[in-house]
Amino acid sequence: MIEIKGTTSVYGLIGNPVEHSVSPVIHNTLAELLGIDMVYATFKVEKDLVADAVKGAAALNVRGMNVTVPHKQSVMNLLTDIDPLAKAIGAVNTLVRAEDGYKGYNTDILGLERELEDVGVELRGNRCIILGAGGASRAIAFLCASKGAEVIYLLNRTISKAEDIAAAVNSYIGRDVVIPMAIDDYKNIPGIGYLTIQTTSVGLYPACDSAPADEKDFYDKVSIGVDIIYNPAETKFMKYVKAQGKPAYNGLKMLLYQGVCAFELWNKVSVSREITDVVYEKLEKELQ
Ligand code: ATR
Repeated sequence: MIEIKGTTSVYGLIGNPVEHSVSPVIHNTLAELLGIDMVYATFKVEKDLVADAVKGAAALNVRGMNVTVPHKQSVMNLLTDIDPLAKAIGAVNTLVRAEDGYKGYNTDILGLERELEDVGVELRGNRCIILGAGGASRAIAFLCASKGAEVIYLLNRTISKAEDIAAAVNSYIGRDVVIPMAIDDYKNIPGIGYLTIQTTSVGLYPACDSAPADEKDFYDKVSIGVDIIYNPAETKFMKYVKAQGKPAYNGLKMLLYQGVCAFELWNKVSVSREITDVVYEKLEKELQ
């Protein structure tokens, strides 16, 4: 148990809703394991009060905050500095205390990068398929492109949303690395061997028996499948990938690592694999 003293720093999550967040489990466990004198709580903040919340946190000298839905975009014009990739993505989930306010980062994306490193996936030179064109897809497309993916096929039910993301990423990178496509047109993707990241909400509990694509021909193209969903622990998409004899991972590591990356930025520490494994096990139990 964390002992709260006069010296204990307060960190927290602002969003709405925040009640089901597992971030307190991640950060308070890390603090305990690393012996850092801090505590992490959640703060439910209404949309029109986000500026007051950030200003108040700065006045209280809160060292760091996480930001979740619906404030990840609106918080951006309240910051004194923003990491370039977070700025390009257009979403911030971590605030780090700077001299006169907060600097914003997007550790959702740093979390995915770390998960991919963990499972031995190199983005540089890789060919990718991203399923979906929501907020998560946009961030992931920026990550893959900025880390040197050779080509990214971005597939969505609504093609106009895939086109919007492709335009934003391609103009940032300076070449046509993202190719937007309707999911039904996947047969136009040449060859096989694609790192495939599933970002749609299809397959999320309780609608576990659905996937954004059902045809075997689609899964023939996949070399590794990564789903950002972690409930259920094995999605239908992951089952399809595994049925082709390919590895598939859920989104729990990405969730954990977005927290670990924020924790490292706040405390200027590097968290070892042994420690993250302990927190991972705790999270798995928590979500069962
Ligand atoms: P997030 O911000 O978490 O990425 P989002 O912005 O709500 O979530 O995006 C949800 C994604 O899931 C979108 O790509 C959406 O497709 P559309 O743009 O066509 O709506 C996709 N999605 C949701 N339900 C779907 C379904 N039944 N079939 C296919 N795609 C679906």
